[in-house]
Amino acid sequence: MTFMIVASFKILSLLFICFLFSRTAEAQLHVYLSYRCNTNKTFATNSAFQSDLTTLLYSLASANTKFYNATIVGGGDIVYGLFMCRGDLNISMCHQCVVYATQQLASKCRFSKEAIVWYEECIVRYSDRYFFSTVDTMPSFIMYNIQNASRPSFLQLLLDTLNFTAEEAANDAKKYATRESSISGFGTMYSLLQCTPDLSSRDCRKCLSGVIEDLPWCCVGKQGAGVLTPSCTVRYELYPFYYSDDQPAAISPPTNSSVPQGKAILLRHLL
Ligand SMILES: *[C@@H]1O[C@H](CO)[C@@H](O)[C@H](O)[C@H]1NC(C)=O
Ligand SMILES: *[C@@H]1O[C@H](CO)[C@@H](O)[C@H](O)[C@H]1NC(C)=O
Ligand SMILES: *[C@@H]1O[C@H](CO)[C@@H](O)[C@H](O)[C@H]1NC(C)=O
Ligand SMILES: *[C@@H]1O[C@H](CO)[C@@H](O)[C@H](O)[C@H]1NC(C)=O
Ligand SMILES: *[C@@H]1O[C@H](CO)[C@@H](O)[C@H](O)[C@H]1NC(C)=O
Ligand SMILES: *[C@@H]1O[C@H](CO)[C@@H](O)[C@H](O)[C@H]1NC(C)=O
Repeated sequence: MTFMIVASFKILSLLFICFLFSRTAEAQLHVYLSYRCNTNKTFATNSAFQSDLTTLLYSLASANTKFYNATIVGGGDIVYGLFMCRGDLNISMCHQCVVYATQQLASKCRFSKEAIVWYEECIVRYSDRYFFSTVDTMPSFIMYNIQNASRPSFLQLLLDTLNFTAEEAANDAKKYATRESSISGFGTMYSLLQCTPDLSSRDCRKCLSGVIEDLPWCCVGKQGAGVLTPSCTVRYELYPFYYSDDQPAAISPPTNSSVPQGKAILLRHLL
Protein backbone atom coordinates (compact mmCIF):
# COMPACT_ATOMS: atom_id res chain seq x y z
CA MET A 1 0.00 0.00 0.00
CA THR A 2 1.49 3.31 -0.98
CA PHE A 3 1.30 5.09 2.33
CA MET A 4 3.90 7.41 3.70
CA ILE A 5 6.10 4.80 5.24
CA VAL A 6 9.64 4.01 4.31
CA ALA A 7 10.04 0.29 4.72
CA SER A 8 13.81 0.27 5.08
CA PHE A 9 15.38 1.22 8.41
CA LYS A 10 12.24 0.09 10.13
CA ILE A 11 13.84 0.25 13.51
CA LEU A 12 14.65 3.92 13.14
CA SER A 13 11.14 4.80 12.18
CA LEU A 14 9.48 3.74 15.36
CA LEU A 15 7.41 5.74 17.68
CA PHE A 16 6.60 4.49 21.10
CA ILE A 17 3.13 5.20 22.24
CA CYS A 18 1.58 4.33 25.50
CA PHE A 19 -2.08 3.68 25.71
CA LEU A 20 -3.73 3.30 29.02
CA PHE A 21 -6.64 1.07 28.29
CA SER A 22 -9.06 2.26 30.88
CA ARG A 23 -12.02 0.22 29.89
CA THR A 24 -15.19 -0.53 31.65
CA ALA A 25 -16.83 -3.90 31.31
CA GLU A 26 -19.35 -2.64 28.73
CA ALA A 27 -16.92 -0.62 26.67
CA GLN A 28 -14.70 -3.56 25.84
CA LEU A 29 -16.45 -4.96 22.80
CA HIS A 30 -14.34 -3.31 20.14
CA VAL A 31 -10.84 -2.05 20.71
CA TYR A 32 -9.65 0.69 18.39
CA LEU A 33 -5.95 0.49 17.57
CA SER A 34 -4.88 2.89 14.84
CA TYR A 35 -5.54 4.32 11.43
CA ARG A 36 -3.60 5.75 8.47
CA CYS A 37 -4.78 8.17 5.84
CA ASN A 38 -2.71 8.59 2.70
CA THR A 39 -2.45 12.36 2.57
CA ASN A 40 -0.75 12.34 -0.84
CA LYS A 41 -3.95 11.34 -2.55
CA THR A 42 -6.77 13.64 -1.66
CA PHE A 43 -10.17 14.54 -3.00
CA ALA A 44 -12.15 17.77 -2.84
CA THR A 45 -15.22 18.38 -0.75
CA ASN A 46 -18.40 17.60 -2.67
CA SER A 47 -16.44 15.83 -5.40
CA ALA A 48 -17.70 12.73 -7.16
CA PHE A 49 -15.08 10.74 -5.25
CA GLN A 50 -16.52 11.85 -1.96
CA SER A 51 -19.94 10.66 -2.90
CA ASP A 52 -18.56 7.34 -4.19
CA LEU A 53 -16.64 6.89 -0.95
CA THR A 54 -19.76 7.55 1.10
CA THR A 55 -21.53 4.88 -0.93
CA LEU A 56 -18.66 2.49 -0.41
CA LEU A 57 -18.50 2.96 3.37
CA TYR A 58 -22.25 2.55 3.57
CA SER A 59 -22.02 -0.65 1.57
CA LEU A 60 -19.31 -2.04 3.87
CA ALA A 61 -21.25 -1.09 6.98
CA SER A 62 -24.35 -2.82 5.61
CA ALA A 63 -22.79 -6.17 4.77
CA ASN A 64 -23.56 -9.16 6.96
CA THR A 65 -20.46 -11.27 6.49
CA LYS A 66 -17.02 -11.51 8.05
CA PHE A 67 -15.16 -10.58 4.89
CA TYR A 68 -16.46 -8.32 2.19
CA ASN A 69 -15.08 -6.42 -0.75
CA ALA A 70 -16.83 -3.81 -2.80
CA THR A 71 -16.14 -1.71 -5.86
CA ILE A 72 -17.95 1.55 -6.51
CA VAL A 73 -17.88 2.94 -10.00
CA GLY A 74 -19.43 6.33 -9.72
CA GLY A 75 -18.83 9.71 -11.23
CA GLY A 76 -15.20 10.01 -10.11
CA ASP A 77 -12.40 7.47 -9.90
CA ILE A 78 -13.32 3.94 -9.01
CA VAL A 79 -13.14 3.27 -5.27
CA TYR A 80 -12.32 -0.15 -3.86
CA GLY A 81 -12.90 -1.19 -0.29
CA LEU A 82 -12.95 -4.19 1.97
CA PHE A 83 -13.27 -5.27 5.54
CA MET A 84 -12.13 -8.34 7.40
CA CYS A 85 -13.19 -9.38 10.88
CA ARG A 86 -11.12 -11.53 13.19
CA GLY A 87 -12.04 -15.13 12.48
CA ASP A 88 -13.47 -15.88 15.92
CA LEU A 89 -16.11 -13.14 15.82
CA ASN A 90 -19.73 -13.88 15.05
CA ILE A 91 -21.55 -11.88 12.38
CA SER A 92 -23.22 -9.46 14.76
CA MET A 93 -19.98 -8.58 16.55
CA CYS A 94 -18.28 -8.25 13.18
CA HIS A 95 -20.96 -5.96 11.84
CA GLN A 96 -20.73 -3.73 14.91
CA CYS A 97 -16.95 -3.41 14.56
CA VAL A 98 -17.25 -2.51 10.87
CA VAL A 99 -19.87 0.12 11.66
CA TYR A 100 -17.48 1.77 14.17
CA ALA A 101 -14.53 1.43 11.83
CA THR A 102 -16.27 3.02 8.84
CA GLN A 103 -17.36 5.90 11.08
CA GLN A 104 -13.73 6.37 12.16
CA LEU A 105 -12.54 6.41 8.56
CA ALA A 106 -15.19 8.90 7.53
CA SER A 107 -14.23 11.27 10.33
CA LYS A 108 -10.44 10.81 10.51
CA CYS A 109 -9.58 10.49 6.82
CA ARG A 110 -11.95 13.05 5.45
CA PHE A 111 -9.99 13.90 2.31
CA SER A 112 -7.89 10.81 1.61
CA LYS A 113 -8.39 8.58 -1.39
CA GLU A 114 -6.67 5.77 0.48
CA ALA A 115 -6.96 4.81 4.13
CA ILE A 116 -7.04 1.99 6.64
CA VAL A 117 -8.28 1.57 10.19
CA TRP A 118 -7.39 -1.26 12.58
CA TYR A 119 -9.45 -2.47 15.47
CA GLU A 120 -8.49 -5.54 17.42
CA GLU A 121 -11.57 -7.17 15.92
CA CYS A 122 -11.64 -5.84 12.36
CA ILE A 123 -9.76 -4.09 9.58
CA VAL A 124 -11.40 -1.72 7.10
CA ARG A 125 -9.61 -0.15 4.15
CA TYR A 126 -10.30 1.60 0.88
CA SER A 127 -8.35 3.03 -2.02
CA ASP A 128 -8.72 4.41 -5.52
CA ARG A 129 -6.18 1.72 -6.45
CA TYR A 130 -7.25 -1.87 -7.13
CA PHE A 131 -5.74 -3.79 -4.22
CA PHE A 132 -7.82 -6.97 -4.02
CA SER A 133 -5.88 -10.25 -4.09
CA THR A 134 -2.54 -8.53 -3.63
CA VAL A 135 -0.27 -8.49 -0.58
CA ASP A 136 0.16 -5.11 1.10
CA THR A 137 2.39 -5.09 4.16
CA MET A 138 2.56 -1.33 4.63
CA PRO A 139 1.52 0.56 6.59
CA SER A 140 1.79 -1.69 9.60
CA PHE A 141 0.87 -1.42 13.22
CA ILE A 142 2.72 -3.13 16.04
CA MET A 143 1.65 -3.63 19.62
CA TYR A 144 3.15 -5.47 22.53
CA ASN A 145 2.40 -6.45 26.06
CA ILE A 146 4.81 -4.86 28.53
CA GLN A 147 5.14 -8.07 30.52
CA ASN A 148 8.48 -9.75 29.89
CA ALA A 149 9.20 -13.30 28.87
CA SER A 150 12.92 -13.01 28.57
CA ARG A 151 13.87 -16.66 28.77
CA PRO A 152 15.76 -17.42 25.51
CA SER A 153 13.77 -20.58 24.82
CA PHE A 154 10.58 -18.54 24.71
CA LEU A 155 11.44 -16.79 21.46
CA GLN A 156 12.35 -19.97 19.62
CA LEU A 157 9.22 -21.78 20.79
CA LEU A 158 7.18 -18.77 19.81
CA LEU A 159 8.64 -18.52 16.31
CA ASP A 160 8.27 -22.26 15.72
CA THR A 161 4.67 -22.19 16.85
CA LEU A 162 3.79 -19.18 14.73
CA ASN A 163 5.56 -20.58 11.69
CA PHE A 164 3.62 -23.80 12.05
CA THR A 165 0.31 -22.03 12.56
CA ALA A 166 0.99 -19.72 9.60
CA GLU A 167 1.06 -22.77 7.35
CA GLU A 168 -2.32 -23.79 8.68
CA ALA A 169 -3.82 -20.30 8.20
CA ALA A 170 -2.48 -20.06 4.64
CA ASN A 171 -4.11 -23.37 3.72
CA ASP A 172 -7.40 -22.61 5.44
CA ALA A 173 -10.31 -21.49 3.24
CA LYS A 174 -10.92 -18.53 5.55
CA LYS A 175 -7.18 -17.87 5.90
CA TYR A 176 -7.44 -18.05 9.67
CA ALA A 177 -5.85 -20.23 12.35
CA THR A 178 -5.42 -20.17 16.09
CA ARG A 179 -3.31 -22.37 18.33
CA GLU A 180 -3.00 -22.97 22.03
CA SER A 181 0.36 -24.32 23.03
CA SER A 182 1.84 -25.05 26.36
CA ILE A 183 5.09 -23.28 27.15
CA SER A 184 6.90 -24.66 30.12
CA GLY A 185 7.16 -22.09 32.87
CA PHE A 186 4.71 -19.72 31.23
CA GLY A 187 1.48 -21.65 30.84
CA THR A 188 -0.57 -21.53 27.69
CA MET A 189 0.31 -19.38 24.73
CA TYR A 190 -2.56 -18.32 22.49
CA SER A 191 -1.73 -17.37 18.93
CA LEU A 192 -3.85 -16.16 16.06
CA LEU A 193 -2.87 -15.63 12.43
CA GLN A 194 -5.09 -14.37 9.65
CA CYS A 195 -4.95 -13.07 6.08
CA THR A 196 -7.66 -11.40 4.05
CA PRO A 197 -9.29 -14.38 2.30
CA ASP A 198 -8.93 -12.82 -1.15
CA LEU A 199 -5.23 -13.78 -1.01
CA SER A 200 -3.94 -17.04 -2.44
CA SER A 201 -2.38 -19.53 0.00
CA ARG A 202 1.01 -18.62 -1.33
CA ASP A 203 0.53 -14.88 -0.87
CA CYS A 204 -0.98 -15.41 2.57
CA ARG A 205 2.04 -17.48 3.61
CA LYS A 206 4.37 -14.80 2.28
CA CYS A 207 2.54 -12.08 4.18
CA LEU A 208 2.54 -14.08 7.43
CA SER A 209 6.22 -14.93 7.12
CA GLY A 210 6.88 -11.21 6.88
CA VAL A 211 4.94 -10.32 10.02
CA ILE A 212 6.49 -13.20 11.96
CA GLU A 213 9.94 -11.97 10.94
CA ASP A 214 9.06 -8.58 12.42
CA LEU A 215 8.56 -10.04 15.89
CA PRO A 216 12.18 -10.65 16.87
CA TRP A 217 13.17 -7.02 16.26
CA CYS A 218 10.05 -5.34 17.63
CA CYS A 219 8.95 -7.52 20.47
CA VAL A 220 11.68 -9.82 21.68
CA GLY A 221 11.23 -10.82 25.31
CA LYS A 222 7.58 -9.77 25.43
CA GLN A 223 4.82 -12.04 26.68
CA GLY A 224 2.49 -10.85 23.98
CA ALA A 225 2.61 -8.90 20.74
CA GLY A 226 0.82 -8.28 17.50
CA VAL A 227 1.75 -7.08 14.02
CA LEU A 228 -1.07 -5.87 11.82
CA THR A 229 -0.73 -5.01 8.14
CA PRO A 230 -3.42 -4.37 5.51
CA SER A 231 -3.25 -7.98 4.27
CA CYS A 232 -2.45 -10.12 7.31
CA THR A 233 -2.10 -10.12 11.07
CA VAL A 234 -0.34 -12.10 13.78
CA ARG A 235 -0.90 -11.94 17.54
CA TYR A 236 0.14 -14.01 20.52
CA GLU A 237 -0.48 -13.64 24.24
CA LEU A 238 -0.26 -15.76 27.38
CA TYR A 239 -3.97 -15.21 27.97
CA PRO A 240 -6.97 -16.01 25.76
CA PHE A 241 -7.62 -12.88 23.71
CA TYR A 242 -9.93 -14.48 21.15
CA TYR A 243 -13.20 -16.33 21.53
CA SER A 244 -13.16 -20.08 21.40
CA ASP A 245 -15.75 -22.75 22.05
CA ASP A 246 -14.82 -23.18 25.68
CA GLN A 247 -13.91 -19.67 26.74
CA PRO A 248 -14.77 -16.03 26.27
CA ALA A 249 -12.05 -13.66 25.11
CA ALA A 250 -10.25 -11.61 27.74
CA ILE A 251 -9.49 -8.13 26.50
CA SER A 252 -6.68 -7.45 28.93
CA PRO A 253 -4.22 -9.57 30.87
CA PRO A 254 -5.57 -11.54 33.84
CA THR A 255 -6.07 -9.56 37.05
CA ASN A 256 -3.39 -11.44 38.96
CA SER A 257 -0.70 -10.61 36.40
CA SER A 258 2.21 -8.46 37.42
CA VAL A 259 1.22 -5.38 35.45
CA PRO A 260 -1.58 -3.01 36.35
CA GLN A 261 -4.85 -4.31 34.98
CA GLY A 262 -5.46 -3.48 31.34
CA LYS A 263 -2.24 -1.60 30.79
CA ALA A 264 -0.48 -2.25 27.55
CA ILE A 265 2.08 -0.52 25.42
CA LEU A 266 1.47 -0.19 21.76
CA LEU A 267 4.28 0.53 19.42
CA ARG A 268 3.78 1.72 15.92
CA HIS A 269 5.62 2.83 12.86
CA LEU A 270 6.18 6.51 12.57
CA LEU A 271 4.26 8.08 9.71
C1 LIG B 1 3.98 11.08 -0.94
O1 LIG B 1 4.70 12.05 -1.66
C2 LIG B 1 6.06 12.14 -1.29
C3 LIG B 1 6.67 13.33 -2.04
O2 LIG B 1 6.37 13.25 -3.41
C4 LIG B 1 6.74 10.83 -1.64
O3 LIG B 1 8.09 10.89 -1.23
C5 LIG B 1 6.04 9.71 -0.89
O4 LIG B 1 6.59 8.47 -1.25
C6 LIG B 1 4.57 9.70 -1.20
N1 LIG B 1 3.93 8.74 -0.36
C7 LIG B 1 3.03 7.91 -0.82
C8 LIG B 1 2.43 7.03 0.19
O5 LIG B 1 2.70 7.82 -1.98
C1 LIG C 1 -13.90 -8.79 -4.76
O1 LIG C 1 -12.53 -9.15 -5.06
C2 LIG C 1 -12.38 -10.06 -6.12
C3 LIG C 1 -10.92 -10.35 -6.25
O2 LIG C 1 -10.45 -10.92 -5.07
C4 LIG C 1 -12.93 -9.48 -7.38
O3 LIG C 1 -12.81 -10.42 -8.44
C5 LIG C 1 -14.38 -9.10 -7.19
O4 LIG C 1 -14.84 -8.45 -8.35
C6 LIG C 1 -14.52 -8.17 -6.00
N1 LIG C 1 -15.92 -7.92 -5.75
C7 LIG C 1 -16.38 -6.69 -5.69
C8 LIG C 1 -17.84 -6.56 -5.42
O5 LIG C 1 -15.67 -5.72 -5.81
C1 LIG D 1 -21.89 -12.95 19.37
O1 LIG D 1 -20.82 -13.04 20.28
C2 LIG D 1 -20.98 -12.24 21.45
C3 LIG D 1 -19.70 -12.38 22.27
O2 LIG D 1 -19.40 -13.70 22.48
C4 LIG D 1 -22.20 -12.70 22.23
O3 LIG D 1 -22.37 -11.89 23.37
C5 LIG D 1 -23.42 -12.60 21.33
O4 LIG D 1 -24.53 -13.13 22.00
C6 LIG D 1 -23.19 -13.38 20.05
N1 LIG D 1 -24.31 -13.12 19.16
C7 LIG D 1 -24.87 -14.07 18.45
C8 LIG D 1 -25.99 -13.66 17.58
O5 LIG D 1 -24.50 -15.24 18.51
C1 LIG E 1 10.98 -5.87 31.12
O1 LIG E 1 12.37 -5.80 30.85
C2 LIG E 1 12.85 -4.49 30.61
C3 LIG E 1 14.30 -4.59 30.19
O2 LIG E 1 14.95 -5.61 30.84
C4 LIG E 1 12.65 -3.67 31.90
O3 LIG E 1 13.11 -2.35 31.69
C5 LIG E 1 11.17 -3.64 32.21
O4 LIG E 1 10.95 -2.94 33.42
C6 LIG E 1 10.62 -5.05 32.34
N1 LIG E 1 9.17 -4.95 32.44
C7 LIG E 1 8.47 -5.65 33.33
C8 LIG E 1 6.99 -5.43 33.33
O5 LIG E 1 8.98 -6.43 34.10
C1 LIG F 1 8.59 -22.75 8.75
O1 LIG F 1 7.91 -23.95 8.43
C2 LIG F 1 8.22 -24.44 7.14
C3 LIG F 1 7.38 -25.68 6.90
O2 LIG F 1 6.07 -25.49 7.32
C4 LIG F 1 9.69 -24.77 7.07
O3 LIG F 1 10.01 -25.22 5.77
C5 LIG F 1 10.50 -23.53 7.42
O4 LIG F 1 11.87 -23.85 7.48
C6 LIG F 1 10.08 -22.97 8.75
N1 LIG F 1 10.76 -21.69 8.95
C7 LIG F 1 11.30 -21.37 10.11
C8 LIG F 1 11.94 -20.03 10.17
O5 LIG F 1 11.25 -22.09 11.07
C1 LIG G 1 -3.64 -16.24 37.67
O1 LIG G 1 -4.36 -17.09 38.51
C2 LIG G 1 -4.81 -18.27 37.85
C3 LIG G 1 -5.70 -19.05 38.80
O2 LIG G 1 -5.64 -18.53 40.09
C4 LIG G 1 -3.59 -19.07 37.43
O3 LIG G 1 -4.02 -20.25 36.75
C5 LIG G 1 -2.76 -18.24 36.49
O4 LIG G 1 -1.59 -18.93 36.15
C6 LIG G 1 -2.39 -16.92 37.15
N1 LIG G 1 -1.72 -16.08 36.15
C7 LIG G 1 -0.60 -15.42 36.42
C8 LIG G 1 -0.05 -14.61 35.30
O5 LIG G 1 -0.05 -15.46 37.51
